[in-house]
Amino acid sequence: MVNQVSETTSSGSDSRSVEAKDESDKSGEDAKRALSSSTSPRPIASALTTKPAFTGLPVNDGREGAGGLAKTITALESDGFSRFTLGAMVSHYPALANFATFAARASRDLPPDPYDKTGGRRRRYAQFLAHKRNGHIEATPIHRVFDEQGEPKTIYLQSGTYQPDFGDVERVFASLSDQQIWDPVVHDLIRLTIQMAIATGTLPNGEAFIVGFHINQQFPRSDGTPARVSPNKFHRDGEPVTMAVLCGRDNVEGGETFVGSLATVGQTPDTVSPEGILSRFILSRIGEAYVVDDRRVAHHAEGVVRSNPSIDGHRTMILVDACPIKRVFSHEIPTQAKS
Ligand SMILES: [Fe+2]
Repeated sequence: MVNQVSETTSSGSDSRSVEAKDESDKSGEDAKRALSSSTSPRPIASALTTKPAFTGLPVNDGREGAGGLAKTITALESDGFSRFTLGAMVSHYPALANFATFAARASRDLPPDPYDKTGGRRRRYAQFLAHKRNGHIEATPIHRVFDEQGEPKTIYLQSGTYQPDFGDVERVFASLSDQQIWDPVVHDLIRLTIQMAIATGTLPNGEAFIVGFHINQQFPRSDGTPARVSPNKFHRDGEPVTMAVLCGRDNVEGGETFVGSLATVGQTPDTVSPEGILSRFILSRIGEAYVVDDRRVAHHAEGVVRSNPSIDGHRTMILVDACPIKRVFSHEIPTQAKS
Protein backbone atom coordinates (compact mmCIF):
# COMPACT_ATOMS: atom_id res chain seq x y z
CA MET A 1 0.00 0.00 0.00
CA VAL A 2 3.02 2.26 0.13
CA ASN A 3 2.50 3.39 -3.41
CA GLN A 4 -0.86 4.82 -2.47
CA VAL A 5 0.91 7.38 -0.37
CA SER A 6 2.77 9.97 -2.37
CA GLU A 7 6.53 9.61 -2.26
CA THR A 8 7.11 13.23 -3.13
CA THR A 9 7.45 16.15 -0.82
CA SER A 10 6.41 19.70 -1.31
CA SER A 11 7.24 22.26 1.24
CA GLY A 12 8.04 25.90 1.37
CA SER A 13 6.58 29.32 1.39
CA ASP A 14 3.43 28.61 -0.59
CA SER A 15 1.97 26.33 2.00
CA ARG A 16 -0.96 25.49 3.96
CA SER A 17 -3.64 25.18 6.53
CA VAL A 18 -5.19 23.18 9.23
CA GLU A 19 -8.58 21.69 9.27
CA ALA A 20 -11.23 22.91 11.52
CA LYS A 21 -11.64 20.34 14.21
CA ASP A 22 -15.17 20.02 13.51
CA GLU A 23 -17.74 21.17 15.91
CA SER A 24 -21.34 21.94 15.34
CA ASP A 25 -24.53 23.56 16.31
CA LYS A 26 -25.83 21.86 19.40
CA SER A 27 -26.64 23.84 22.50
CA GLY A 28 -24.79 23.58 25.77
CA GLU A 29 -27.79 21.94 27.41
CA ASP A 30 -27.85 19.25 24.72
CA ALA A 31 -24.18 18.73 25.27
CA LYS A 32 -24.67 18.33 29.00
CA ARG A 33 -27.45 15.80 28.44
CA ALA A 34 -25.22 13.82 26.11
CA LEU A 35 -22.52 13.82 28.74
CA SER A 36 -24.82 12.77 31.52
CA SER A 37 -26.24 9.95 29.42
CA SER A 38 -22.90 8.20 29.35
CA THR A 39 -21.78 6.00 32.16
CA SER A 40 -19.27 7.12 34.74
CA PRO A 41 -15.67 7.03 33.62
CA ARG A 42 -13.96 3.79 34.39
CA PRO A 43 -10.38 2.68 34.02
CA ILE A 44 -9.18 1.69 30.62
CA ALA A 45 -9.56 -2.02 30.12
CA SER A 46 -6.58 -3.96 31.30
CA ALA A 47 -6.22 -5.47 27.86
CA LEU A 48 -5.38 -2.03 26.57
CA THR A 49 -2.80 -1.26 29.19
CA THR A 50 -0.92 -4.49 28.70
CA LYS A 51 -0.09 -3.89 25.05
CA PRO A 52 3.64 -3.66 24.35
CA ALA A 53 5.25 -0.25 24.53
CA PHE A 54 6.02 1.44 21.26
CA THR A 55 9.47 2.57 20.42
CA GLY A 56 10.23 5.34 18.03
CA LEU A 57 12.86 7.70 16.84
CA PRO A 58 14.89 9.98 19.06
CA VAL A 59 13.00 13.18 19.66
CA ASN A 60 15.46 15.63 18.20
CA ASP A 61 16.82 14.03 15.06
CA GLY A 62 14.53 15.89 12.70
CA ARG A 63 17.24 17.82 10.92
CA GLU A 64 19.72 15.06 10.24
CA GLY A 65 19.50 13.30 6.92
CA ALA A 66 15.79 13.54 7.07
CA GLY A 67 14.95 14.51 3.49
CA GLY A 68 11.32 15.45 3.46
CA LEU A 69 11.19 15.74 7.21
CA ALA A 70 14.04 18.27 7.27
CA LYS A 71 12.44 20.35 4.52
CA THR A 72 9.10 20.31 6.27
CA ILE A 73 10.64 21.42 9.54
CA THR A 74 12.53 24.22 7.79
CA ALA A 75 9.34 25.49 6.13
CA LEU A 76 7.36 25.27 9.37
CA GLU A 77 10.00 27.26 11.17
CA SER A 78 10.23 29.85 8.40
CA ASP A 79 6.57 30.33 7.50
CA GLY A 80 4.55 29.02 10.44
CA PHE A 81 3.12 26.26 8.27
CA SER A 82 4.33 23.56 5.92
CA ARG A 83 2.98 21.07 3.46
CA PHE A 84 4.27 17.54 2.94
CA THR A 85 3.27 13.95 2.28
CA LEU A 86 3.45 11.02 4.64
CA GLY A 87 5.26 9.04 1.97
CA ALA A 88 8.26 11.30 2.47
CA MET A 89 8.30 10.47 6.19
CA VAL A 90 8.35 6.68 5.97
CA SER A 91 12.12 6.44 6.36
CA HIS A 92 11.76 8.03 9.80
CA TYR A 93 8.35 6.67 10.70
CA PRO A 94 8.09 3.18 9.15
CA ALA A 95 4.52 2.54 10.27
CA LEU A 96 3.33 5.30 7.95
CA ALA A 97 3.96 2.92 5.04
CA ASN A 98 0.64 1.40 6.13
CA PHE A 99 -1.22 4.69 6.25
CA ALA A 100 -3.34 4.05 3.17
CA THR A 101 -4.69 0.81 4.63
CA PHE A 102 -5.40 2.48 7.97
CA ALA A 103 -7.05 5.44 6.23
CA ALA A 104 -9.34 3.35 4.06
CA ARG A 105 -10.65 1.41 7.04
CA ALA A 106 -11.00 4.51 9.19
CA SER A 107 -12.97 6.38 6.53
CA ARG A 108 -15.55 3.58 6.35
CA ASP A 109 -16.14 3.37 10.08
CA LEU A 110 -17.15 6.76 11.40
CA PRO A 111 -20.35 7.35 13.40
CA PRO A 112 -22.33 10.59 13.10
CA ASP A 113 -21.19 13.53 15.20
CA PRO A 114 -23.95 13.63 17.86
CA TYR A 115 -23.60 17.39 18.23
CA ASP A 116 -23.98 18.17 14.53
CA LYS A 117 -27.50 19.26 13.62
CA THR A 118 -26.71 19.43 9.91
CA GLY A 119 -26.17 15.69 9.55
CA GLY A 120 -23.07 16.34 7.50
CA ARG A 121 -20.33 15.32 9.88
CA ARG A 122 -18.96 12.07 11.27
CA ARG A 123 -16.08 11.63 13.63
CA ARG A 124 -14.01 9.73 16.12
CA TYR A 125 -11.71 11.24 18.68
CA ALA A 126 -9.07 10.08 21.09
CA GLN A 127 -6.77 11.80 23.50
CA PHE A 128 -3.32 10.63 24.50
CA LEU A 129 -0.69 11.42 27.04
CA ALA A 130 2.55 11.46 25.06
CA HIS A 131 5.72 11.26 27.06
CA LYS A 132 9.38 10.57 26.59
CA ARG A 133 10.90 7.31 27.60
CA ASN A 134 14.59 6.77 27.02
CA GLY A 135 14.53 9.57 24.47
CA HIS A 136 11.58 8.16 22.57
CA ILE A 137 7.99 9.33 22.50
CA GLU A 138 5.30 6.95 23.69
CA ALA A 139 1.59 7.63 23.90
CA THR A 140 -1.12 6.30 26.21
CA PRO A 141 -4.86 6.94 25.72
CA ILE A 142 -6.57 9.08 28.36
CA HIS A 143 -10.03 10.51 29.04
CA ARG A 144 -11.56 7.35 27.65
CA VAL A 145 -14.93 6.21 29.02
CA PHE A 146 -17.49 3.58 28.05
CA ASP A 147 -21.19 4.06 27.41
CA GLU A 148 -23.97 1.71 28.51
CA GLN A 149 -23.41 -0.44 25.45
CA GLY A 150 -19.71 -0.74 26.24
CA GLU A 151 -18.68 1.48 23.36
CA PRO A 152 -15.57 3.57 24.04
CA LYS A 153 -16.03 7.33 24.12
CA THR A 154 -13.66 10.21 24.62
CA ILE A 155 -14.46 13.46 26.39
CA TYR A 156 -13.55 16.56 24.42
CA LEU A 157 -13.30 20.10 25.76
CA GLN A 158 -12.20 23.14 23.82
CA SER A 159 -11.63 26.63 25.16
CA GLY A 160 -14.19 29.25 24.26
CA THR A 161 -11.29 31.51 23.41
CA TYR A 162 -10.75 29.51 20.23
CA GLN A 163 -14.00 27.62 19.57
CA PRO A 164 -16.99 29.95 19.10
CA ASP A 165 -19.51 27.14 18.57
CA PHE A 166 -18.76 24.77 21.45
CA GLY A 167 -16.19 26.52 23.59
CA ASP A 168 -16.02 25.41 27.24
CA VAL A 169 -18.62 22.68 26.65
CA GLU A 170 -17.70 19.07 27.33
CA ARG A 171 -18.64 16.81 24.49
CA VAL A 172 -18.46 13.03 24.29
CA PHE A 173 -17.41 11.52 20.97
CA ALA A 174 -17.00 8.00 19.76
CA SER A 175 -13.45 7.02 20.53
CA LEU A 176 -10.98 5.52 18.16
CA SER A 177 -11.52 1.79 18.35
CA ASP A 178 -9.37 -0.40 20.58
CA GLN A 179 -7.49 -1.48 17.47
CA GLN A 180 -6.98 2.06 16.26
CA ILE A 181 -5.84 3.27 19.68
CA TRP A 182 -2.83 0.98 19.50
CA ASP A 183 -2.22 1.04 15.75
CA PRO A 184 1.43 1.89 15.00
CA VAL A 185 0.21 4.30 12.31
CA VAL A 186 -1.54 6.37 14.97
CA HIS A 187 1.53 6.41 17.18
CA ASP A 188 3.88 7.39 14.38
CA LEU A 189 1.54 10.24 13.44
CA ILE A 190 1.70 11.43 17.04
CA ARG A 191 5.49 11.18 17.09
CA LEU A 192 5.78 13.02 13.79
CA THR A 193 3.60 15.89 14.99
CA ILE A 194 5.48 16.33 18.24
CA GLN A 195 8.88 15.99 16.64
CA MET A 196 8.18 18.65 14.03
CA ALA A 197 6.84 20.97 16.71
CA ILE A 198 9.79 20.50 19.05
CA ALA A 199 12.29 20.95 16.24
CA THR A 200 10.78 24.33 15.37
CA GLY A 201 10.17 25.54 18.91
CA THR A 202 6.42 25.36 18.40
CA LEU A 203 6.37 23.01 21.40
CA PRO A 204 8.93 23.21 24.20
CA ASN A 205 11.25 20.25 24.46
CA GLY A 206 9.50 19.09 27.59
CA GLU A 207 8.67 15.76 29.13
CA ALA A 208 5.01 15.26 28.26
CA PHE A 209 2.23 16.43 25.98
CA ILE A 210 -1.53 16.13 25.69
CA VAL A 211 -2.35 14.95 22.17
CA GLY A 212 -5.72 15.14 20.42
CA PHE A 213 -6.30 12.65 17.61
CA HIS A 214 -9.33 13.42 15.42
CA ILE A 215 -10.79 11.50 12.50
CA ASN A 216 -13.28 13.95 11.00
CA GLN A 217 -15.46 13.33 8.00
CA GLN A 218 -17.52 15.72 5.89
CA PHE A 219 -20.43 13.64 4.58
CA PRO A 220 -22.63 15.83 2.33
CA ARG A 221 -26.30 15.11 1.85
CA SER A 222 -28.00 14.23 -1.41
CA ASP A 223 -29.96 17.51 -1.50
CA GLY A 224 -26.86 19.55 -2.29
CA THR A 225 -26.37 20.95 1.19
CA PRO A 226 -22.62 21.36 1.80
CA ALA A 227 -21.03 19.45 4.64
CA ARG A 228 -19.09 22.05 6.57
CA VAL A 229 -16.58 21.95 9.36
CA SER A 230 -16.82 24.08 12.47
CA PRO A 231 -15.99 26.79 13.11
CA ASN A 232 -16.74 27.69 9.50
CA LYS A 233 -14.35 30.62 9.38
CA PHE A 234 -10.69 31.42 9.80
CA HIS A 235 -9.68 30.48 13.30
CA ARG A 236 -6.93 29.20 15.53
CA ASP A 237 -7.25 25.90 17.36
CA GLY A 238 -5.59 26.82 20.64
CA GLU A 239 -3.24 23.86 20.61
CA PRO A 240 0.20 25.16 19.57
CA VAL A 241 0.59 22.64 16.76
CA THR A 242 -1.83 20.76 14.53
CA MET A 243 -1.00 18.35 11.73
CA ALA A 244 -3.73 17.52 9.21
CA VAL A 245 -3.66 14.56 6.82
CA LEU A 246 -6.05 13.63 4.03
CA CYS A 247 -7.53 10.31 5.08
CA GLY A 248 -10.05 9.90 2.25
CA ARG A 249 -11.83 11.85 -0.45
CA ASP A 250 -14.44 10.44 -2.80
CA ASN A 251 -17.27 11.90 -4.89
CA VAL A 252 -17.01 15.41 -3.46
CA GLU A 253 -16.23 18.88 -4.75
CA GLY A 254 -14.84 21.72 -2.68
CA GLY A 255 -13.00 21.35 0.58
CA GLU A 256 -10.39 23.95 -0.16
CA THR A 257 -8.16 24.79 2.77
CA PHE A 258 -6.68 28.16 3.60
CA VAL A 259 -3.86 29.43 5.74
CA GLY A 260 -4.18 33.02 6.79
CA SER A 261 -2.43 35.61 8.88
CA LEU A 262 -3.65 36.03 12.45
CA ALA A 263 -5.61 39.06 11.26
CA THR A 264 -7.96 36.76 9.36
CA VAL A 265 -9.41 35.13 12.49
CA GLY A 266 -13.19 35.38 12.43
CA GLN A 267 -13.38 36.09 8.71
CA THR A 268 -14.28 33.95 5.72
CA PRO A 269 -12.56 33.66 2.31
CA ASP A 270 -15.25 35.96 0.92
CA THR A 271 -14.52 38.76 3.36
CA VAL A 272 -10.82 38.44 4.08
CA SER A 273 -8.37 40.75 2.36
CA PRO A 274 -6.22 38.99 -0.26
CA GLU A 275 -2.98 39.79 1.52
CA GLY A 276 -4.28 37.94 4.58
CA ILE A 277 -4.34 34.64 2.70
CA LEU A 278 -0.94 33.02 2.92
CA SER A 279 -1.86 29.86 1.03
CA ARG A 280 -4.85 28.00 -0.36
CA PHE A 281 -5.01 24.48 -1.79
CA ILE A 282 -7.10 21.35 -2.12
CA LEU A 283 -5.77 18.11 -0.70
CA SER A 284 -6.43 15.38 -3.22
CA ARG A 285 -4.11 12.45 -2.50
CA ILE A 286 -4.34 10.15 0.49
CA GLY A 287 -1.47 11.02 2.79
CA GLU A 288 -1.16 14.66 1.72
CA ALA A 289 -0.63 16.66 4.85
CA TYR A 290 0.19 20.02 6.35
CA VAL A 291 1.18 21.31 9.74
CA VAL A 292 0.62 24.72 11.31
CA ASP A 293 2.13 26.69 14.15
CA ASP A 294 -1.07 27.94 15.77
CA ARG A 295 0.75 30.82 17.40
CA ARG A 296 1.57 32.34 14.02
CA VAL A 297 -1.19 31.51 11.51
CA ALA A 298 -4.92 30.95 11.26
CA HIS A 299 -6.64 28.38 9.06
CA HIS A 300 -9.96 27.53 7.47
CA ALA A 301 -11.46 24.67 5.47
CA GLU A 302 -14.46 25.00 3.20
CA GLY A 303 -17.44 22.70 2.88
CA VAL A 304 -17.93 19.97 0.29
CA VAL A 305 -20.87 18.84 -1.83
CA ARG A 306 -21.39 15.59 -3.67
CA SER A 307 -20.06 15.42 -7.23
CA ASN A 308 -22.71 12.84 -8.14
CA PRO A 309 -25.75 13.57 -5.95
CA SER A 310 -27.10 10.03 -6.24
CA ILE A 311 -24.27 8.31 -4.39
CA ASP A 312 -22.48 8.95 -1.10
CA GLY A 313 -19.37 11.06 -0.96
CA HIS A 314 -16.97 12.13 1.76
CA ARG A 315 -13.87 14.07 2.64
CA THR A 316 -12.11 12.61 5.66
CA MET A 317 -9.25 14.17 7.59
CA ILE A 318 -7.00 13.07 10.42
CA LEU A 319 -5.96 15.90 12.72
CA VAL A 320 -3.30 15.55 15.38
CA ASP A 321 -2.75 18.38 17.85
CA ALA A 322 -0.53 18.72 20.89
CA CYS A 323 -0.16 20.87 24.01
CA PRO A 324 2.77 20.77 26.42
CA ILE A 325 2.45 19.70 30.03
CA LYS A 326 4.61 21.56 32.48
CA ARG A 327 5.84 20.07 35.74
CA VAL A 328 5.53 22.49 38.67
CA PHE A 329 7.73 21.97 41.73
CA SER A 330 6.81 22.73 45.33
CA HIS A 331 8.92 25.89 45.53
CA GLU A 332 6.93 27.33 42.63
CA ILE A 333 3.56 27.00 44.39
CA PRO A 334 2.71 29.73 46.93
CA THR A 335 2.22 28.45 50.45
CA GLN A 336 -0.38 31.04 51.51
CA ALA A 337 -3.69 29.52 52.45
CA LYS A 338 -6.33 29.87 49.79
CA SER A 339 -8.80 32.58 50.82
FE1 LIG B 1 -9.09 24.19 13.20
